[in-house]
Amino acid sequence: MRLEGKIALITGATSGIGLATAQLFVNEGARVIITGRNESNLAEAKAQIHGPVSTLVADVRSPAQMQSMAQQITEMFGAGTLDIFFANAGVAFSTPLLTTDEAHYDELMDVNVKGLFFSMQAVAPLLRDGASVILNSAWLNATGSAGFSVLSASKAAVRSFARTWSADLLTRRIRVNAVSPGAIDTPIFELEGRSPEQLAEVKRHLAASIPAGRMGTPDDIAQTVLFLAGDESRYMLGAEIIVDGGFAQL
Ligand SMILES: NC(=O)c1ccc[n+]([C@@H]2O[C@H](COP(=O)([O-])OP(=O)(O)OC[C@H]3O[C@@H](n4cnc5c(N)ncnc54)[C@H](OP(=O)(O)O)[C@@H]3O)[C@@H](O)[C@H]2O)c1
Repeated sequence: MRLEGKIALITGATSGIGLATAQLFVNEGARVIITGRNESNLAEAKAQIHGPVSTLVADVRSPAQMQSMAQQITEMFGAGTLDIFFANAGVAFSTPLLTTDEAHYDELMDVNVKGLFFSMQAVAPLLRDGASVILNSAWLNATGSAGFSVLSASKAAVRSFARTWSADLLTRRIRVNAVSPGAIDTPIFELEGRSPEQLAEVKRHLAASIPAGRMGTPDDIAQTVLFLAGDESRYMLGAEIIVDGGFAQL
């Protein structure tokens, strides 16, 4: 029960890493609020999590919806009561330099960068002094991966926010750190519209190229988020933990 009595907000927790982290946080004694873009995905996620979970429909692309989410959390739990904020909502797909259109560029930047900025702006006043914030970046924030320029740039911005927001919130002892997953087996790989066969081939190829010999699981990341959320990581701020089976390191 490493998070006994804590209140945690996780954006984008209807599947994948966010959902696994919500389950782990609940197992560790936290009360958790999860968000997503629609009621039905949230209802399915809530049914899968065994423990105290509240759901809120809120699209991170809308600063107004982020403010309304913050208002509802204050009504549910009181002002200044959030102990943990895992800013996890995000999208990922390739953006070839010569063929990417404006809509795809905007979607990546609107969710991963603008969405994160206005989530944090809305949530910062709800955080307790000494709270922990974890941002979900990606291993490719510091590599040159052909065909992934916009996604990589968006996640480099996320990495940067961990440093600047730790500085912004220093007087309140709020720590902001980043987790940078490698290739994790979640529904995010379905966003490119591949057939099941193509998807299986991509995953086989990825698993073969990862030093650890497999793709990561959502729980591999949730365990690191738990560490960053709790007191065990108290001397870390503005930092990053890369959890990628050695992919970007070896
Ligand atoms: N999987 C990987 O290999 C990998 C690697 C590096 C980083 N990451 C990062 O990990 C995070 C979680 O991704 P995942 O792999 O767990 O993928 P996922 O299973 O597709 O989860 C993405 C979550 O984000 C939510 N979401 C998407 N757009 C949203 C929006 N505009 N507003 C609010 N919520 C939104 C989705 O909920 P609804 O669809 O229900 O709205 C879903 O719950 C992302 O930031 C991703 O970039 C993943």
